[in-house]
Amino acid sequence: MSVTAGHPELISAIASEIAFSGPIPFVRFMELALYHPQFGYYMRRPDGIGHERIGWSGDFYTSSDVFPMILGRTLAAQARQMDELLGCPTPFTIVEMGAGKGLLARDVLTAIHSQGDSFASRLRYILIERSPAMRELQCRNLAPWLSKSGLVTWVEGLDGLAPETVTGLFLSNELVDAFPVHRIQVTAGRTDELYVDYRDGRFVECPMPLSTIRIAEYLQRLQTTLPEGYRTEVNLQAIDWMEQVAQQIDRGFVVTIDYGHTAQDLYGPERKNGTFLCYFQQLTNEDPFMRVGEQDMTAHVDFSSLAAVGEEQGLHVTGFTNQMSFLMGLGVEEMIGELEPESPEFQAAIHLLKPNGMGSTFKVLMQHKGLSCPELDGLKFKPFFGSALAAHSVA
Ligand SMILES: C[S@@+](CC[C@H](N)C(=O)[O-])C[C@H]1O[C@@H](n2cnc3c(N)ncnc32)[C@H](O)[C@@H]1O
Repeated sequence: MSVTAGHPELISAIASEIAFSGPIPFVRFMELALYHPQFGYYMRRPDGIGHERIGWSGDFYTSSDVFPMILGRTLAAQARQMDELLGCPTPFTIVEMGAGKGLLARDVLTAIHSQGDSFASRLRYILIERSPAMRELQCRNLAPWLSKSGLVTWVEGLDGLAPETVTGLFLSNELVDAFPVHRIQVTAGRTDELYVDYRDGRFVECPMPLSTIRIAEYLQRLQTTLPEGYRTEVNLQAIDWMEQVAQQIDRGFVVTIDYGHTAQDLYGPERKNGTFLCYFQQLTNEDPFMRVGEQDMTAHVDFSSLAAVGEEQGLHVTGFTNQMSFLMGLGVEEMIGELEPESPEFQAAIHLLKPNGMGSTFKVLMQHKGLSCPELDGLKFKPFFGSALAAHSVA
């Protein structure tokens, strides 16, 4: 049994909720650990020197940290092509949700404005960020752009965008893997959900019946039988998110970059322990009770379900690729060619492309609405068969 440790006020808030309501589904525990309004991991300002959340000196790094300019420049090039396909609308809106420190936004804005054409003057950039601490960092990193009236704005949540108002691009990088997940386990032929109880000063997991029928429905649609002892995660928030994103788009694209797989891979026999992981100071562990509120928690994304939900809402799959192929299609080779070989920037760019690292673990799902069969440079190279995201319906 693991020892419970972490942020004391957070532990006590979660323990009080359990004392009041009984054991809570793991998804609720993860929601509180990451997003408790006062004490959650993402919601507090980093406490203590050197305990940044995201970055080389933080608990984990994202592609935005490795070499934000490369990702920023390639995404700007992709957005420019989308703008042309949409007929150069005014405004062309980029919505970025879960922008973390705002480094990607900064570099996309810089790249688009470096050309000084009509695209830059028609652009507006909207950020949606749940964490006040992250919003502060975004304001700081985007300071040079804030004096341009109406260029960069924030809305509170997806509800802050009226339905069918976005013409442009809805973007996220490592947002969906930060949504709280349900955890399930197959025992004696039955699928149970993992709940969290608090006993003798420790959090303990306990299998109980599923908290919602939606999990059973989700598993049924996977059309696979999970074997005895199998443990995995179900991200229902991702399904609701995709449905809502699809509804906010009038005409345009959704680009979702994240750790993830097709459903067939994610729920295949080789992932019998699921993909749930915690991150603390660049090290991973599988114990959510060890540093409650002081470590990140993630689970890989089921891109097949995102694609299926999108289709049901009129958001069609343009293509599915990995980060390496996406960056190659958008001219990363020429960008790397401008760098001094052996320079830290060169090494960082290579890191983003590694076929057995970030280049392949990160996938890119591109979807469109209101256009017919657009062709995008980010999808020039296709590492998967066209049917990889074979549609299965997720209501
Ligand atoms: C893993 S970080 C990724 C940050 C950034 N995109 C990057 O690549 O560095 C996840 C981010 O999503 C934000 N987030 C999580 N759930 C959210 C939600 N429902 N609405 C808005 N932001 C959310 C977190 O606060 C955090 O800033």
